[in-house]
Amino acid sequence: MRQMMTQQKVYGERDSTYQAAGGQTGIRKLVDCFFDIMGSDPSYQTIYDWHPADREESRDKLALFLCGWMGGPRPFVEKYGSISIPAVHQHLQVTELERDLWLECMGRALHQQDYPLALTEYLLRQLFIPAERIRQACMGS
Ligand code: HEM
Repeated sequence: MRQMMTQQKVYGERDSTYQAAGGQTGIRKLVDCFFDIMGSDPSYQTIYDWHPADREESRDKLALFLCGWMGGPRPFVEKYGSISIPAVHQHLQVTELERDLWLECMGRALHQQDYPLALTEYLLRQLFIPAERIRQACMGS
């Protein structure tokens, strides 16, 4: 039984998720793909248009944030300072619709990476947590 469990890839321990996602290079690739999809598919136009005109900075911020969020180094904090994810979204009208659009777009970007399916599924499950907290902060419940 123990042998069976150790054969399964465990994400979420120390920096295992960060490493499996390809470190900062892999995460930047993921985030570039995410923004490219968001900017090219009209289904995501609302959430894409919400971003400031300098989408290069948005890409940089999300990629650097996700490095720490995945258990790796925290370059976001070093470059931009500390952050509260629900608070920085609170001025937006994130309902279930926009939350799910964001997650769907991220899901598409994840599937385009050379990631094991287990990693993609793990990340999507984990990303639901901050995405839902954002919705709650925006909707006040
Ligand atoms: C729930 C759906 C989400 C939507 C619709 C959304 C949308 C946005 C938008 C429009 C901005 C730019 C805000 C502005 O500068 O006025 C932003 C910034 C950001 N988002 Fe999201 N987001 C979502 C979920 C997430 C999640 C789940 C994460 C992290 C796990 C995240 C991380 C960030 C970061 C790090 C920034 C940069 C904040 C800053 O300017 O310092 N977002 N998001």
